[in-house]
Amino acid sequence: MLSSQHRELVKATVPVLREHGVALTSHFYRRMFSHNPELKHVFNQAKQEAGQQQQALALAVLGYAEHIDDPSVLAPVVMRIAHKHVGLGIRAEHYPIVGHHLLSSISEVLGEAASDELLEAWRLAYGQLADLLIAAEQQLYTDGALSRGGWSGVRSFTVTRKVAESSEITSFYLSPSDKGAVPGFRPGQYITLKRYVPELGLLQPRQYSLSDAPGQDYLRISVKREPGNGATPAGRISNLLHDTVHEGDQLELAPPGGDFFLHEERSTPVVLISGGVGQTPMIAMLNHLVLTQSPRRVAFVHGCRNGAVHAMKRHVNQLAAECDNVSKVVFYEEVGADDRQGKDYDLQGRVDLGAVREQVLLPDADYYLCGPLPFMLAQRDWLLAAGVDGGRIHYEVFGSHTIAG
Ligand SMILES: Cc1cc2nc3c(=O)[nH]c(=O)nc-3n(C[C@H](O)[C@H](O)[C@H](O)COP(=O)(O)OP(=O)(O)OC[C@H]3O[C@@H](n4cnc5c(N)ncnc54)[C@H](O)[C@@H]3O)c2cc1C
Ligand code: HEM
Repeated sequence: MLSSQHRELVKATVPVLREHGVALTSHFYRRMFSHNPELKHVFNQAKQEAGQQQQALALAVLGYAEHIDDPSVLAPVVMRIAHKHVGLGIRAEHYPIVGHHLLSSISEVLGEAASDELLEAWRLAYGQLADLLIAAEQQLYTDGALSRGGWSGVRSFTVTRKVAESSEITSFYLSPSDKGAVPGFRPGQYITLKRYVPELGLLQPRQYSLSDAPGQDYLRISVKREPGNGATPAGRISNLLHDTVHEGDQLELAPPGGDFFLHEERSTPVVLISGGVGQTPMIAMLNHLVLTQSPRRVAFVHGCRNGAVHAMKRHVNQLAAECDNVSKVVFYEEVGADDRQGKDYDLQGRVDLGAVREQVLLPDADYYLCGPLPFMLAQRDWLLAAGVDGGRIHYEVFGSHTIAG
């Protein structure tokens, strides 16, 4: 049981953790992977190499320590992490392993400053957070397995169609290899895919938003090839998918999940704002609203570099032309000779909500954002400054969320 004295000890370590947070978690990962190398199959090694996961966990620990008196503040973050963990197949038995290496790392990094009382306080605090996550994850595993077409763990899907959507985005249509039912999901949610990477000798997980409406006889994902440049290596899984996965091949998937989805209980307008491949969950929402003949007003706002990389433009053009309640605005950063203003794109430059104020400031609208982080922050700031309630702004990050943000 975590006493008030334990809580004070945990809170008192926040400044120390701020100072040592990243060093502590780097140490933790080195330690854990050397003792439990099987966990390398679960963690995205590119993020490990780029230091992103170290940051996510360090911030999660700090965020937790800061709110230890009122863990309810953490409820939405706990759900977000739980969805991510469930896609990755994290189970209750993994928690003691992580806890053991985390506590040993705290002790090793802090040296004499890590008193027995402090370590005991952290052991209890970690246990409390682990219990919250384990309970939330257990519920998600059960719900996933019991739902129609659902399963627990991984299931094989066959690529029935592979369609190039632009010069860098390709869609994969996936049907259960066992010919069983296709799972339902909420538009906006993602699946986690696991693929063997020969040069690492490891299975590697990646998340992909489902890019078509639920209720079809397939699941669809649309993947952008990450080419890399002189400074960063080419993305491993996106390139494997583009180059080596063909129609008839199989992919291993965890069930759909995620806490970013269309709020269907509402009847108010929906504004979908995306940058680049961030449009995938928006297309799922748009298609679902159209297929279910929702009378809600829908504004689709999208920005990308140019016409060559602009995926699914004909599809969105068609929906906007055919449905009175759907409007679209597309921004191109650079306009090519073949790009048709008023058809493929509407405005030149980066997405500027101020330029389309009347189309996006709709009464009681919900705003869904997905794209690079600076893009989403800019749109969120504009919406807040325009008086939109923060609770109506929902966002998906195609990377690690941090507990602080
Ligand atoms: C919820 C969610 C939904 C998503 N939905 C989609 C989607 O619909 N479509 C889509 O295309 N993607 C989506 N993503 C992103 C996707 O999961 C992958 O991250 C993406 O495909 C890149 O994976 P990769 O294996 O190709 O690249 P990785 O190998 O993981 O590399 C990722 C990036 O890190 C860089 N990098 C790698 N190693 C290093 C290093 N040592 N130092 C510095 N940089 C390095 C690479 O150059 C690359 O740009 C989503 C992500 C999340 C979390
Ligand atoms: C109390 C304990 C834990 C906390 C606070 C925690 C916190 C987090 C956070 C904040 C993220 C990022 C979520 C996001 O991307 O949105 C994350 C991701 C992840 N967690 Fe945990 N976690 C805990 C336990 C575990 C355990 C026991 C495992 C299993 C070994 C695990 C494995 C992972 C993996 C593999 C990821 C994804 C990282 C990647 O992309 O590779 N976590 N966790």
